[in-house]
Amino acid sequence: MTAKQVALSQLFKTVRTATVNICNGLANEDFGIQPAPEVSPPKWHLGHTSWLFEEAILAPFKTDYKPFNPHYQTLFNSYYKAVGPHTLQSKRGDLSRPTVDEVMQYRAHIDAAMHALLTSSALSDNTCALIETAIHHEQQHQELLYMDIKYILASNAIPTTYQASAPTSAPTIQTSWAHFEEGLVDIGDTGHAFAYDNERPTHKHYLYPFAINQALVTNGDFLAFIENQGYQQAQYWLSQGWDWVTKHHIQQPLYWRLIDDQWYEYTLYGLLPLDLNQPLVHISYFEADAFAKWKGLRLPTEQELEVFLNRTQLEAGSDSYHPNHAQAAEQVWCWTASQYMPYPRYKAFDGLLKEYNGKFMCNQFVLRGGCIVTPQGHYRHSYRNFYLPEQRWMFSGIRLAKDIT
Ligand SMILES: [Fe+2]
Repeated sequence: MTAKQVALSQLFKTVRTATVNICNGLANEDFGIQPAPEVSPPKWHLGHTSWLFEEAILAPFKTDYKPFNPHYQTLFNSYYKAVGPHTLQSKRGDLSRPTVDEVMQYRAHIDAAMHALLTSSALSDNTCALIETAIHHEQQHQELLYMDIKYILASNAIPTTYQASAPTSAPTIQTSWAHFEEGLVDIGDTGHAFAYDNERPTHKHYLYPFAINQALVTNGDFLAFIENQGYQQAQYWLSQGWDWVTKHHIQQPLYWRLIDDQWYEYTLYGLLPLDLNQPLVHISYFEADAFAKWKGLRLPTEQELEVFLNRTQLEAGSDSYHPNHAQAAEQVWCWTASQYMPYPRYKAFDGLLKEYNGKFMCNQFVLRGGCIVTPQGHYRHSYRNFYLPEQRWMFSGIRLAKDIT
């Protein structure tokens, strides 16, 4: 067992336990439902994260490995066409079987097999790299679990909380601009930590003079946009955004509720009065872009935001399930004006994981900065998150930018 395997074995155990802990407070009935096509049932996440270890590592590299249940190859495959057929994403909530208990037994089976593999003879660098990627994949799903659990609990008619204790109220902040000069910068993976293929290779990018606001857009800022009829004025909206707003009657961020003329926000702590100092969260690219235009400003590009995050020391945020500090680090993923595209000379992962990132590089936008439910140790400033412009169930917000002369 090499030093690398010892470290991976420890990380594997910590991450696998953390995933189960996220689901500890759920009722059995919460595990299987899918209230929207993009929201996966927690039971599916628990199975799918195990499946990747089985399919990418155990089946090819553990000689005596026996699959737990051959049906799981299809049931818990997300979208890897090279592996074979998979359940449609929108149908994941249709499956009452396997039960939650059976999925937990599957997890235990994978944990034992991975432990045996990691503590066996020396593994190749390639196998270790695959294991590390599968661990980061599971961390990525931990954030998805928080997003999906929030959507599932918010869909209940009966008030439901994930965490009972209320968060601290947000501090008032002073906004100021961080200025950046024109020049050539290095963008992408620094090589110091794990990175996905979409963060590589490091490359040169030319930036013109710009400024980024030190503070995230707050609920108070966005309320002014609503009260100024921002959702009703086509001049601020992209054509597709305006169609989306009118078709779906969008009038407010995803979890805002207007009750007896008072604004509330659904959080993992339940429905709370809207805190005007908190960072705005759960908005679409269309809303972010319209808000920036209403302010006479713009969204930063992903390169500008990476340079800002690398050079600016943001305060540490407190442990919470809801963003509560507009000037702290990793509160909300910030929309950028950048389409999700391959970097110059991009090379996808080899083998099964070739389908991990590259095939999604069409019609999506990049978000940067990490959020309050991003697992510790998973985030880095070169991290490129990406979503469709109308999606907003992730912890997405706004950091504004402007051109300077
Ligand atoms: Fe996945």
